[in-house]
Amino acid sequence: MHQPAATPRTQAEEFLTREMATLVIYEQARQSFAHVSGWLHPAEGFLLMRLASATNAMPAGAVVEIGSFKGLSTCWLASGLRSVRSRTGADAGKVFAVDHFTGSPEHQAGGKFEDAEIVKHGSTLPLFRENIQKAGLTDLVEVVQAGSLEAVKTWSGAPIRLLFIDGDHSYEATRDDFAAWSKFVPVGGYICFHDVNTWEGVTRFVKELMADPSRRFITVMGAASLLVARRIA
Ligand SMILES: C[S@@+](CC[C@H](N)C(=O)[O-])C[C@H]1O[C@@H](n2cnc3c(N)ncnc32)[C@H](O)[C@@H]1O
Repeated sequence: MHQPAATPRTQAEEFLTREMATLVIYEQARQSFAHVSGWLHPAEGFLLMRLASATNAMPAGAVVEIGSFKGLSTCWLASGLRSVRSRTGADAGKVFAVDHFTGSPEHQAGGKFEDAEIVKHGSTLPLFRENIQKAGLTDLVEVVQAGSLEAVKTWSGAPIRLLFIDGDHSYEATRDDFAAWSKFVPVGGYICFHDVNTWEGVTRFVKELMADPSRRFITVMGAASLLVARRIA
């Protein structure tokens, strides 16, 4: 029987095919940790996931998160690493989840965002571990149970290609987290800040950083309150 010659797909069809594949990755990831509560908008999570998976668009290095709480952002980041593994077979490393897990000031009893887990158990670490395990991401996450400024003293010195800062949201803590960890981010690496324009301290620090005449970082994109900066010098 006569078969018509295969017609190449148009650019628009190729584009839509890639879009649909990305949507499937997003949906699968989201469903695998729908049980995890936290402070991240899905668009912010999606951006973190895609950045973690963009290994060929940045220098080699680790993925580090400051402020993991119950694991929501950790799940997005680790899902990005998992998608690299399933796409290429390559090991894209783990998410280093840095948190003392005793909550920020606003999570304590009487705080603005009092958290039942913190008030009852004093820690979100057991729930964090359970959430990561239920999402099937345990082998992609390394817990660093310590305050950020303690944890950095034990850091190997390895480059960090993607740093996500979402710990204590005061100006001083954001400034100190940045100062302590950003030195490991090489040119071409990324730092993401959460709660920009929603928390005064974070917003003030990020504005100052972006106005710094040395221009080491530029803002490249964002989603909701997530701001993504790339190191350029
Ligand atoms: C807003 S929550 C993080 C939310 C999380 N990224 C998510 O997606 O759900 C802030 C977290 O930062 C942690 N934290 C506060 N101060 C810290 C510090 N100095 N070092 C490390 N973690 C800290 C708290 O224990 C809390 O779990």
